[in-house]
Amino acid sequence: MDARIVDVASETEATFFRCLHDEKPQDPRAAALRRKWHDLHKDKGLREKVLLLESGEVAGLCQYIPIEQSPFLGRELMAILCIWVHGYDHLVGNQQKKGFGRLILDAIEADARESGMKGVAAWGKDFPYWNPVSFYEHMGYVRADAEGQTILVWKPFSADAEAPKLMRLKRPPVPGDRKVDVTVFVSGWCCGGCDYALTARDAVQGLEDVAHYNEIDTSERETQLEYGAGLAGIYLDGEPFRPDGPPFTTEELTAEIRKLYQRKTGQQADSGAA
Ligand SMILES: CC(C)(COP(=O)(O)OP(=O)(O)OC[C@H]1O[C@@H](n2cnc3c(N)ncnc32)[C@H](O)[C@@H]1OP(=O)(O)O)[C@@H](O)C(=O)NCCC(=O)NCCS
Repeated sequence: MDARIVDVASETEATFFRCLHDEKPQDPRAAALRRKWHDLHKDKGLREKVLLLESGEVAGLCQYIPIEQSPFLGRELMAILCIWVHGYDHLVGNQQKKGFGRLILDAIEADARESGMKGVAAWGKDFPYWNPVSFYEHMGYVRADAEGQTILVWKPFSADAEAPKLMRLKRPPVPGDRKVDVTVFVSGWCCGGCDYALTARDAVQGLEDVAHYNEIDTSERETQLEYGAGLAGIYLDGEPFRPDGPPFTTEELTAEIRKLYQRKTGQQADSGAA
């Protein structure tokens, strides 16, 4: 296995910031969200790394940060925001199941120990679409907290390490009186989270008479703590929209907003795209 994990550099940063999706142009709005989050956190212990093959191609990435700066609650732990080993056939090809995930996780743990941390925390999903928590569990991590299918796991290094926790909503979005309230929490550390917000922005286009759009930028940890919103999410009239479901399209979200509007007003939401 000839690969090494290195800090993101000028020749790899474009690939890193678009989460390896070099096969398609990045939405400039997502790029702006990613860049803003990076700028806010680059001096707060953030590690941004890529897995380089011998050929120089990027085959994976990871980013992690002390938990005190992360979307999770805890102390003296290193928090993994994401590990991603390229899994598609295009470009560099499917690089999963070759030991690279283990290589990256071992490197993160070594860095955490050298940095004096008392353990590592990671989050994952208990569903098959992406970011499987089963990987971390296979690697010896145990569950510390859960909300729906979002699971926070950890590996303590010492007996006095404290288990991490997920943030929980403190200021839940409230239903709109007549229009459907569409509240979106977004920060730029995750391409998937950025896509969520952009899907919502696009879904309300033309629905000005039907929906009230409220985007809350949680790039700053203080804002995450204020709302209790660490991870990205879309809320329709106060209810999370498919928090544990498969990815959805702009059209599906638009249709859901229209349906809700009709249900609560008895009127067709006839503005905007059909
Ligand atoms: C999960 C992931 C990091 C694993 O990387 P990988 O390179 O395929 O894994 P490795 O080949 O290093 O496997 C190491 C071990 O973990 C196991 N493993 C790998 N994926 C697993 C999974 N999803 N569930 C359980 N165990 C898993 C392997 O079987 C292997 O076990 P062994 O060494 O005991 O035989 C990779 O599949 C991936 O990137 N998936 C997508 C993650 C994602 O969505 N990231 C975005 C997050 S924002």
